[in-house]
Parts: sequence; C-alpha cells; structure tokens
Amino acid sequence: MFANLNHLSHHAAWRRQLEMLLESTGEGIYGIDQRGRCIFINRAGAELIGFEPDEVLGRNMHYLIHHAHSDGRNYDVHDCPIFKAFLEGKGVRSESEVLWRRDGTPFPAEYTSYPIRDAGQIVGAVVTFADITERKRAEAVLRANQIELERRVSERTAALQDANARLQQSQSALRRLSAHLQEVREEERTHIAREVHDELGASLTALQFDLNWLRPRLADDEALNRKLDDMMTVTGQALGAVRRILTDLRPGVLDHLGLWAALEWLLQETQTRSGLRGTLVSTEGGGERRLGRSAEIAVYRIVQEVLTNVVRHAQASEVIVTIGGSPSGLELDIRDDGIGMRVPAQPTSFGLLGMYERARALGGELSIESTPGKGTSVRLRVPESTR
Ligand SMILES: Nc1ncnc2c1ncn2[C@@H]1O[C@H](COP(=O)(O)OP(=O)(O)OP(=O)(O)O)[C@@H](O)[C@H]1O
Ligand SMILES: [Mg+2]
Repeated sequence: MFANLNHLSHHAAWRRQLEMLLESTGEGIYGIDQRGRCIFINRAGAELIGFEPDEVLGRNMHYLIHHAHSDGRNYDVHDCPIFKAFLEGKGVRSESEVLWRRDGTPFPAEYTSYPIRDAGQIVGAVVTFADITERKRAEAVLRANQIELERRVSERTAALQDANARLQQSQSALRRLSAHLQEVREEERTHIAREVHDELGASLTALQFDLNWLRPRLADDEALNRKLDDMMTVTGQALGAVRRILTDLRPGVLDHLGLWAALEWLLQETQTRSGLRGTLVSTEGGGERRLGRSAEIAVYRIVQEVLTNVVRHAQASEVIVTIGGSPSGLELDIRDDGIGMRVPAQPTSFGLLGMYERARALGGELSIESTPGKGTSVRLRVPESTR
C-alpha cells in the first residue's frame, strides 16, 4: 500500500511494478518520511505487526512498533538507530531488538534501514524487517546444547581426572606393598635359614660325630660297617642339602663378603649346575662398591632371576656379568649369547615384573635389550645413595 508516492515516481506503470515487487516478498517493508511517519508498507509487513496496511499509513513507526525495548523499558526516539541513521544519511542493520505488534506483544526482529534520497536530498528511509523468533529460538537451543555439552565434557573430564588420581594412588600403594612384601619375605627367609641352620644343621653335625664315634667300636663286623658307611653317606648328603637350601634362602656370602663375592659364587653355582659359562667383569672399580644391605639383596635377587631365565629360556653358552661404577652409582649388565627374546612393553610375567619392581623400589632403573637370535642384555642402574 502506497501513500503519496508521487515524489518518488511519476509513472503509474513503474509504481505498479514496484507495488507488485514489494507485495511479493515475505519480508516486511515500509517507508517513512523525515518525521518518521509511514508513507508505504507492504502487506507482509502490516501482517507481521498485526495491522491492515491502511491503518499504518501516516503513523509514526517508532511509536507504533519500536516504542520499547524487549524488557519493556521505553525506547526514546532519539536513541532509535533507524531514526539516527537516516538523519545522518547512513544505513543500519540490527538483529538484537524487538518490534511490537498491535496486541502489545513483542517479537525479535531483524531490520535494515536505508535513507531514501530524492535529487540528493534525504526524504525518508526504507525499512525492511522480519520476525526472527524461530532463528532466535534455534540459536537459544543451540546455545543451551553447547552449554550442556561443555558441562558434560567438564564433568566427564573431572571424573576421569579423579579416577586417574585414584588409580595412581592405588598403583603407588601397590608398589609400596610389593616392596614391603619383598622385605618381609627376605626377613622370613633369614629367619627360616637361621632355624634350619641351628636346628637341622646342628643335629646332622651331631649325628655325624656320633657315627664317627661308633666306627672304631664296631670292630670287624662287616655288615655293621657297611651299614655305618651308608648312614654316613646319607648324613653327608643331608648336610649338603641343608647347606644348599641355606645359601638359596640366604646367601651368606652376601652378608660376609659382599655383593661381588656373592655374584661370583652365584655364577659359579650356575655354571656347576647348568654348564653355562659365566664371567664376572668389573670396570671402573665397580666390584669394590658396597650398597646398603637391602639394596645388595635386591641386586642379588635380580641377577639370580636373570641367570635363572638365561638357563631356562636362552639356550645360551655364555653369560657375562659386568659391574661398573659410575659417579651416580652402580651399573650392571648381564649379557647372554642365546636366542634372544621379544621384550614386552609392559611386562606381565612375574619374573620380569619382579625385576622391574625391585629395581624401582631401589630408586634404580632396569632395561632389557634383545634382538631375537642375538642374545639378551639386561641393564640395571642403582643409585649410590641406596641403603
Ligand atoms: N635371557 C632370555 N633369553 C630368552 N628369553 C628370555 C630371557 N629372559 C626371559 N625370557 C623370556 O621372557 C619370558 C618372561 O620371563 P619371566 O622371568 O618373567 O617368566 P618365566 O621365567 O617364564 O617364569 P617365572 O620367572 O615366573 O618362573 C620367559 O618366559 C622367556 O620367554
Ligand atoms: Mg623367570
């Protein structure tokens, strides 16, 4: 619907074209004169604000549909961007305000306003507007979803961090427990070794003395002498077994002569038992170093397990144990020339696991290097300060 558009176009045909164009669009379009009064509005625009087109013509559009902010506060015409802009000859665009319907309800709107010029003179403005309720609603839903998503992500992150912390706590508790159990086990072994030594060892030695005492008193009775020989053999074997059990339980050499001697003895024993050739090499005074008591036992147990593994799995002919001193402590390398192995990233078998854990409890480090077919080398580094 147009009101007095004569000054914009003098041609009826042209006017008709324009009218058709404006009526065909879904957006609201209206024009205002310099004082803000409506000079035309299309049907879509009038419908959006709840009026018939002719009811709007001549009305001040700011007071009709733009009189208040979304919270109901009065919207002063002097603050109105549409007004300001066309007075200054500039265009504006907004999608953050509301327009008001006839029934007093607001709707979120997007509008643009551009000045209308006639022969260089600003004679008014043309405003296009649309109801963007749906878009705003979609945006709000999207925002709410985003916030919810972020909330869930942070909730989940916190839960994961919590679980991780608990996992680490229980892991370190397990480590402490394992180290403690090793210690208890060593103490228990010492205790059993002492009992076996004092009770069984002493009795067998006494028995041996008594058998020796009997010998001259048997005279020439051949059957009795043979019996005595048998008894002496059995007693000797039993004493040998006790000694072996004792050193297995508690390598006395370790206590009396230190780690170097104990390892030498261990290699000797391994060689005797399995035929595996063993060599102990000391570099940079590694052999003279003493560690603390429990550290030496731990190192001894690690080497013991490594040698047992070499005998059981490696099909090696030789093993070389190198002990080297370094400013930061002791370094051991146990190298065999066997079939090699695939080193697991995370050991799960108890032999390897025990070795790693013992090294860790010492504050040291253990690493295994192996190429299938080319032998295995186990390196152990123990810090000096270990007691
Ligand atoms: N020196 C080695 N040469 C070749 N394979 C080895 C060597 N040391 C270990 N392995 C391999 O690593 C595996 C794991 O060793 P680990 O000591 O953990 O277990 P195990 O010796 O089989 O059993 P356990 O020590 O509990 O009696 C062995 O089964 C073996 O296959
Ligand atoms: Mg093993």
